[in-house]
Amino acid sequence: MKILVVGSGGREHAIVWKLKQSPKCTEIFCAPGNAGIAQDAACVKIAATDIPALVAFAKEKQIDLTVIGMDDPLMLGVVDAFEEAGLRVFGPRKNAAILEGSKAFSKELMHKYGIPTADFWEFTESEAAKTFLKEHDTYPIVLKADGLALGKGVLICNNEEEAMAGVDEIMVSKKFGSAGDCMVIEEFMTGPEVSVLSFCDGTTVRPMVSAQDHKRAFDHDQGLNTGGMGTFSPSKYYTPEIAAFCEEHIFKPTVAAMQAEGRTFKGIIFFGLMLTPNGPKVLEYNARFGDPETQVVLPRLKGDLVDIFEACIDGTLEQVPIDWEDNAAVCIVLASGGYPVKYAKGYPIEGLHAFDDRDDMMIFHAGTALNEEGQIVTSGGRVLGIVALDRTLDEAIAKGYENLPQVHFKDVHFRTDIGRK
Ligand code: AMP
Ligand code: GLY
Repeated sequence: MKILVVGSGGREHAIVWKLKQSPKCTEIFCAPGNAGIAQDAACVKIAATDIPALVAFAKEKQIDLTVIGMDDPLMLGVVDAFEEAGLRVFGPRKNAAILEGSKAFSKELMHKYGIPTADFWEFTESEAAKTFLKEHDTYPIVLKADGLALGKGVLICNNEEEAMAGVDEIMVSKKFGSAGDCMVIEEFMTGPEVSVLSFCDGTTVRPMVSAQDHKRAFDHDQGLNTGGMGTFSPSKYYTPEIAAFCEEHIFKPTVAAMQAEGRTFKGIIFFGLMLTPNGPKVLEYNARFGDPETQVVLPRLKGDLVDIFEACIDGTLEQVPIDWEDNAAVCIVLASGGYPVKYAKGYPIEGLHAFDDRDDMMIFHAGTALNEEGQIVTSGGRVLGIVALDRTLDEAIAKGYENLPQVHFKDVHFRTDIGRK
């Protein structure tokens, strides 16, 4: 099979790495990819959102399976376009990707189908939101821009003053662009956060092993929110009892609800969960693999990812074996100093092949590029994910941090407490 993966981050590198292990995969491409992905796949210079060019490329190369990693092309209807062109593609159609694309949609869906989530109120006018907040006296409270905002459209406000300023940011000065045309105000919840990714074929949902993310830039969850500074799998909070509850009350009902709404979901649903004192509740849905969750989940998957993707497309997910290693994984993100605010690019990276002959450590590239001299250099905020596998989480963490200094670039920044949550 010829396979095309769409996207350019650490998540796509992990997907390419796993797909390549399939005996069915004869050739693999990535659009647009990055300098690390280029070592595993043929990268093609097509933007992930250039749908006509992606379709034309897949036709020309007679691609047998295209896998969409990123969210933006999904919301733009890349899957619909591939299907219309008679091409096989893994991911939700536009009318199902709305599960991630609109917070208002997902909150209304959960409300309608009794799926546990925070209480919420929806606004399309800033004045109405402010009137509501003036009468509201329980803080903190959470403000969310309706649309995609690179995971940054969420404000946790500790008092009325902050909340008023937050409404202005989202709805008036439009800090997150048109994502703020509509806003959701949510009850503040507490508890450990767990990410559960799942395969879906429209009717069947098969959860993957759990993971936890570390979103803040610095140790002890200090500093600004980032795209994710590291992950680990499994989460000790996600016990078999909690998993059973989530399957029954969250995962299956979500897939059934989408089907009942005429929005059959095929692809990955990422359940962002908070394990509150009143039970697990949905924080958010994503319509794709998580980044950097994928980097710790896929290395724990036994067997063939191509078979699973095909079963999702064909609606035969119930029949395909999905087994997991009885181990643990940690991913420590090496970021550019200054991320997520301001950082330099173009620094050469040393030690990129340090783990080439090991199967218990890998390096997934997120923001790397080739410079004019053909050197691999930093080219983004999150540069690399260093992944370590071992029998237990403690051993994986120790291994990861012990080996990490072999990989280096100027002004590298990483958290020293990944996996210690
Ligand atoms: P989201 O993009 O919806 O996942 O939100 C980003 C982060 O904001 C989450 O990972 C949580 O840490 C936090 N958050 C979102 N919604 C709530 C909520 N209702 N209560 C408490 N924290 C929240
Ligand atoms: N790690 C969070 C996300 O992928 O949205």
